[in-house]
Amino acid sequence: MINLAIVGCGKHASNFHVPSLRRLKKIYKIIGLFDANLSQAKTLSKKNKIKKIYKSYRAMLADKNVDVINICSPAKFHSKQIIEAIKADKNVMVEKPMVLKSADLKEIIKINLKKKRKSYVYSNKTLDMKLKIY
Ligand SMILES: NC(=O)c1ccc[n+]([C@@H]2O[C@H](COP(=O)([O-])OP(=O)(O)OC[C@H]3O[C@@H](n4cnc5c(N)ncnc54)[C@H](O)[C@@H]3O)[C@@H](O)[C@H]2O)c1
Repeated sequence: MINLAIVGCGKHASNFHVPSLRRLKKIYKIIGLFDANLSQAKTLSKKNKIKKIYKSYRAMLADKNVDVINICSPAKFHSKQIIEAIKADKNVMVEKPMVLKSADLKEIIKINLKKKRKSYVYSNKTLDMKLKIY
Protein backbone atom coordinates (compact mmCIF):
# COMPACT_ATOMS: atom_id res chain seq x y z
CA MET A 1 0.00 0.00 0.00
CA ILE A 2 1.25 3.48 -0.89
CA ASN A 3 0.38 6.10 1.72
CA LEU A 4 -0.39 9.46 0.19
CA ALA A 5 -1.10 12.92 1.59
CA ILE A 6 -2.69 15.79 -0.35
CA VAL A 7 -1.63 19.44 -0.19
CA GLY A 8 -4.21 21.83 -1.66
CA CYS A 9 -7.81 20.67 -1.17
CA GLY A 10 -9.61 22.67 -3.87
CA LYS A 11 -11.49 21.73 -7.03
CA HIS A 12 -8.93 19.42 -8.60
CA ALA A 13 -8.18 17.52 -5.43
CA SER A 14 -11.87 17.10 -4.72
CA ASN A 15 -13.20 16.38 -8.23
CA PHE A 16 -10.34 14.40 -9.79
CA HIS A 17 -7.55 13.28 -7.48
CA VAL A 18 -9.54 11.90 -4.56
CA PRO A 19 -12.12 10.02 -6.69
CA SER A 20 -9.34 8.52 -8.88
CA LEU A 21 -7.23 7.54 -5.89
CA ARG A 22 -10.24 5.99 -4.18
CA ARG A 23 -10.86 3.86 -7.26
CA LEU A 24 -7.25 2.67 -6.83
CA LYS A 25 -7.77 1.87 -3.16
CA LYS A 26 -5.82 -1.39 -3.38
CA ILE A 27 -2.73 0.68 -4.26
CA TYR A 28 -3.17 4.08 -2.59
CA LYS A 29 -4.39 5.12 0.82
CA ILE A 30 -5.05 8.82 1.41
CA ILE A 31 -3.87 9.32 4.96
CA GLY A 32 -3.98 13.11 5.39
CA LEU A 33 -4.67 16.56 4.04
CA PHE A 34 -3.30 20.07 4.27
CA ASP A 35 -4.63 23.33 2.85
CA ALA A 36 -3.56 26.90 3.57
CA ASN A 37 -7.28 27.47 4.09
CA LEU A 38 -8.33 25.08 6.88
CA SER A 39 -12.00 25.05 5.86
CA GLN A 40 -11.08 23.60 2.44
CA ALA A 41 -9.24 20.74 4.14
CA LYS A 42 -12.15 20.19 6.53
CA THR A 43 -14.67 19.99 3.69
CA LEU A 44 -12.62 17.42 1.77
CA SER A 45 -11.92 15.51 4.98
CA LYS A 46 -15.62 15.28 5.88
CA LYS A 47 -16.75 14.34 2.37
CA ASN A 48 -14.24 11.49 2.08
CA LYS A 49 -13.75 10.40 5.71
CA ILE A 50 -10.04 11.31 5.66
CA LYS A 51 -9.40 11.85 9.36
CA LYS A 52 -6.02 13.54 9.48
CA ILE A 53 -5.65 17.26 8.77
CA TYR A 54 -2.10 18.57 9.18
CA LYS A 55 -1.52 21.95 10.80
CA SER A 56 1.16 22.84 8.26
CA TYR A 57 2.91 21.54 5.14
CA ARG A 58 5.98 21.02 7.29
CA ALA A 59 3.96 18.73 9.60
CA MET A 60 2.80 16.71 6.59
CA LEU A 61 6.40 16.32 5.40
CA ALA A 62 7.49 15.26 8.88
CA ASP A 63 4.98 12.39 8.92
CA LYS A 64 7.05 9.23 8.47
CA ASN A 65 3.98 7.29 7.30
CA VAL A 66 3.62 9.39 4.14
CA ASP A 67 5.23 7.90 1.01
CA VAL A 68 3.85 10.28 -1.63
CA ILE A 69 2.95 13.95 -1.46
CA ASN A 70 0.15 14.76 -3.90
CA ILE A 71 0.40 18.47 -4.75
CA CYS A 72 -2.85 20.18 -5.82
CA SER A 73 -2.03 23.72 -4.72
CA PRO A 74 -1.83 26.64 -7.21
CA ALA A 75 0.96 26.24 -9.77
CA LYS A 76 3.11 29.07 -8.37
CA PHE A 77 3.76 26.93 -5.26
CA HIS A 78 4.59 23.68 -7.04
CA SER A 79 8.36 23.91 -7.44
CA LYS A 80 8.96 25.00 -3.83
CA GLN A 81 6.64 22.32 -2.45
CA ILE A 82 8.13 19.61 -4.70
CA ILE A 83 11.68 20.46 -3.63
CA GLU A 84 10.73 20.53 0.06
CA ALA A 85 8.99 17.16 -0.31
CA ILE A 86 11.97 15.46 -1.99
CA LYS A 87 14.29 16.90 0.65
CA ALA A 88 12.01 15.26 3.23
CA ASP A 89 12.52 11.92 1.38
CA LYS A 90 9.04 11.86 -0.17
CA ASN A 91 7.98 10.94 -3.69
CA VAL A 92 5.76 13.46 -5.44
CA MET A 93 2.62 13.40 -7.58
CA VAL A 94 1.81 16.90 -8.82
CA GLU A 95 -0.95 18.61 -10.79
CA LYS A 96 -0.11 20.23 -14.11
CA PRO A 97 1.91 22.34 -14.69
CA MET A 98 4.70 20.72 -12.69
CA VAL A 99 6.74 23.95 -12.61
CA LEU A 100 6.66 27.40 -14.18
CA LYS A 101 10.38 27.69 -14.99
CA SER A 102 12.67 25.15 -16.68
CA ALA A 103 15.42 25.96 -14.16
CA ASP A 104 13.16 24.63 -11.40
CA LEU A 105 12.73 21.38 -13.29
CA LYS A 106 16.50 20.97 -13.57
CA GLU A 107 16.77 21.48 -9.82
CA ILE A 108 14.03 18.91 -9.15
CA ILE A 109 15.71 16.30 -11.38
CA LYS A 110 19.01 16.92 -9.60
CA ILE A 111 17.56 16.47 -6.10
CA ASN A 112 15.46 13.47 -7.16
CA LEU A 113 18.60 11.72 -8.40
CA LYS A 114 20.51 12.60 -5.27
CA LYS A 115 17.73 11.48 -2.90
CA LYS A 116 16.63 8.54 -5.12
CA ARG A 117 13.02 9.80 -5.18
CA LYS A 118 10.48 10.11 -8.00
CA SER A 119 8.35 13.10 -9.02
CA TYR A 120 5.67 12.77 -11.66
CA VAL A 121 2.76 14.71 -13.09
CA TYR A 122 -0.75 13.44 -12.38
CA SER A 123 -2.35 12.45 -15.70
CA ASN A 124 -5.84 11.13 -15.13
CA LYS A 125 -6.61 10.82 -18.85
CA THR A 126 -3.53 8.84 -19.93
CA LEU A 127 -5.44 5.58 -20.36
CA ASP A 128 -8.73 7.15 -21.44
CA MET A 129 -9.33 5.54 -24.84
CA LYS A 130 -12.28 7.85 -25.55
CA LEU A 131 -9.96 10.84 -25.50
CA LYS A 132 -8.44 10.91 -29.00
CA ILE A 133 -5.66 13.43 -28.65
CA TYR A 134 -3.02 11.69 -30.76
N1 LIG B 1 -4.99 19.51 -15.28
C1 LIG B 1 -5.61 20.57 -15.71
O1 LIG B 1 -6.10 20.64 -16.81
C2 LIG B 1 -5.75 21.69 -14.75
C3 LIG B 1 -6.77 22.60 -14.90
C4 LIG B 1 -6.91 23.56 -13.93
C5 LIG B 1 -6.03 23.59 -12.86
N2 LIG B 1 -5.03 22.70 -12.78
C6 LIG B 1 -4.06 22.73 -11.68
O2 LIG B 1 -4.64 22.18 -10.49
C7 LIG B 1 -4.11 22.84 -9.36
C8 LIG B 1 -5.23 23.21 -8.44
O3 LIG B 1 -6.24 23.87 -9.14
P1 LIG B 1 -7.70 23.99 -8.56
O4 LIG B 1 -8.55 24.33 -9.71
O5 LIG B 1 -8.02 22.81 -7.72
O6 LIG B 1 -7.52 25.29 -7.63
P2 LIG B 1 -8.35 25.68 -6.31
O7 LIG B 1 -8.13 27.14 -6.15
O8 LIG B 1 -9.75 25.16 -6.37
O9 LIG B 1 -7.59 24.87 -5.16
C9 LIG B 1 -6.31 25.20 -4.72
C10 LIG B 1 -6.27 24.98 -3.21
O10 LIG B 1 -4.94 25.20 -2.76
C11 LIG B 1 -4.98 25.91 -1.55
N3 LIG B 1 -3.70 26.61 -1.37
C12 LIG B 1 -3.33 27.82 -1.88
N4 LIG B 1 -2.04 28.07 -1.56
C13 LIG B 1 -1.61 27.00 -0.84
C14 LIG B 1 -0.38 26.68 -0.23
N5 LIG B 1 0.69 27.50 -0.31
N6 LIG B 1 -0.28 25.52 0.44
C15 LIG B 1 -1.34 24.68 0.54
N7 LIG B 1 -2.53 24.94 -0.03
C16 LIG B 1 -2.66 26.08 -0.72
C17 LIG B 1 -6.18 26.83 -1.67
O11 LIG B 1 -6.67 27.24 -0.41
C18 LIG B 1 -7.17 25.93 -2.43
O12 LIG B 1 -7.99 25.18 -1.55
C19 LIG B 1 -3.27 23.99 -9.90
O13 LIG B 1 -1.92 23.61 -9.87
C20 LIG B 1 -3.68 24.13 -11.34
O14 LIG B 1 -2.60 24.52 -12.16
C21 LIG B 1 -4.87 21.74 -13.71
